[in-house]
Amino acid sequence: MQSPNSQGKFVTMWSGFMTWVDERFPATETFEYHMSRYYAPKNFNFWYYFGVLAILMLVLQILTGVWLTMSYVPTGEGAFASVEYIMRDVEYGWLIRYLHSTGASFFFLVVYAHMYRALLYGSYRGPRELLWLIGMVIFVALMAEGFFGYLLPWGNMSYWGAQVIVSLAGAIPYVGPELMEWIRGDYLMSGATLNRFFALHVVALPLVLVALVFVHIVALHHVGSNNPDGIEIKKNKGADGIPVDGIPFHPYYTVHDVHAMVLFLIVFCAAVFFAPEMGGYFIEKPNFIPADPLATPEHIAPVWYYTPYYSMLRAATFPLFGMDAKFWGLVVMAAAIVIPAVLPWLDRSPVKSIRYKGMLSKVWLGVFIVSFFILGYLGTKAPSTGRTAVAQFCTIIYFLYFVLMPWYTRVEKTKPEPDRVTA
Ligand code: HEM
Repeated sequence: MQSPNSQGKFVTMWSGFMTWVDERFPATETFEYHMSRYYAPKNFNFWYYFGVLAILMLVLQILTGVWLTMSYVPTGEGAFASVEYIMRDVEYGWLIRYLHSTGASFFFLVVYAHMYRALLYGSYRGPRELLWLIGMVIFVALMAEGFFGYLLPWGNMSYWGAQVIVSLAGAIPYVGPELMEWIRGDYLMSGATLNRFFALHVVALPLVLVALVFVHIVALHHVGSNNPDGIEIKKNKGADGIPVDGIPFHPYYTVHDVHAMVLFLIVFCAAVFFAPEMGGYFIEKPNFIPADPLATPEHIAPVWYYTPYYSMLRAATFPLFGMDAKFWGLVVMAAAIVIPAVLPWLDRSPVKSIRYKGMLSKVWLGVFIVSFFILGYLGTKAPSTGRTAVAQFCTIIYFLYFVLMPWYTRVEKTKPEPDRVTA
């Protein structure tokens, strides 16, 4: 047990040490700017947990990824067997692998919820346009990270899934076939492809993601957080210059976030320990057999987090303007991924939050989300005439949500925003 005297000594030593550090590096200043004097709105709700959970998932993926890399062999001959070795012989290898593979699905779950929150409360609106654009780049980089990682176990679905996506590049006029060969580094998917995907998955994209998340937070702390009421707390400051509706991020939200992390980890661990494959949704069944260039899986589908976009890719079924359906599928899919980037300029409503927007915004957001879920479901299934027709309809709804936004956000009747945040 420490005596009060030794405690006092410790405090003196610590403050001496921090003075020494602060004279050489802005440690206290940075901590205050980003934590103890960063005033966040006091009305954050459930949807505001997902930013910190996304950071948690990024850290978890990087850590488990480093440990997997210690035993993984990035060659066409060795990859599949090395994953089996990790699962059976490496101590706790099964746990590290399942944390990583289930982690990928949970990472996307968290990021989708995080993006949905922005749609609900208009967080993409000024002055947060750049923050939103950085988020969009993160989203695309995350999709690429997942795609490259999925090839690495060199299972049959890894092989054929990557084959389908890489072959899309072949639909680009003039340069397509050469581009495809350039991406693969070979005439077909091979060990050379696996090697470059490995380099991108474990080095290039994690670096890009960490750098992007860093600038995402810097941009957020520069403009300040939005909140469920969509009003700017910086516009209402007290005599001390502090927003009257703000509370210091540390300790209030750090404690709050630890609470969220514990609850989230309970759900996450339940999936890792009891349903790591999630009935074929997190790890698909054909991935338990090695890659076979001569045996196509019965039905090729990407992992669930790509299926809404995959459905839209398949929804383009007819040639147009001399270009084949595959080309238009690629265009539709790429447009669906990037179109949210222009949201800050499409939303013309006088208010930000869905709480004060009119009925049209609420209905459009509702049908958009429902269509996105239906597209996600259809993407996991083999196509049929009926399913393709539904996918085409939902694709149109998906795009109309964005295209009609300048109209419905202007004509609808909105409620007045409150002056202060509501509880
Ligand atoms: C690795 C992925 C990501 C991480 C680690 C991350 C992290 C964070 C954190 C910690 C916050 C503050 C806490 C919060 O508001 O929840 C935040 C806010 C925000 N993020 Fe992200 N984010 C990620 C991806 C994205 C994506 C993909 C988008 C959108 C395309 C996005 C858009 C936003 C917006 C608009 C805010 C401000 C929200 C508000 O103040 O209401 N983020 N992010």
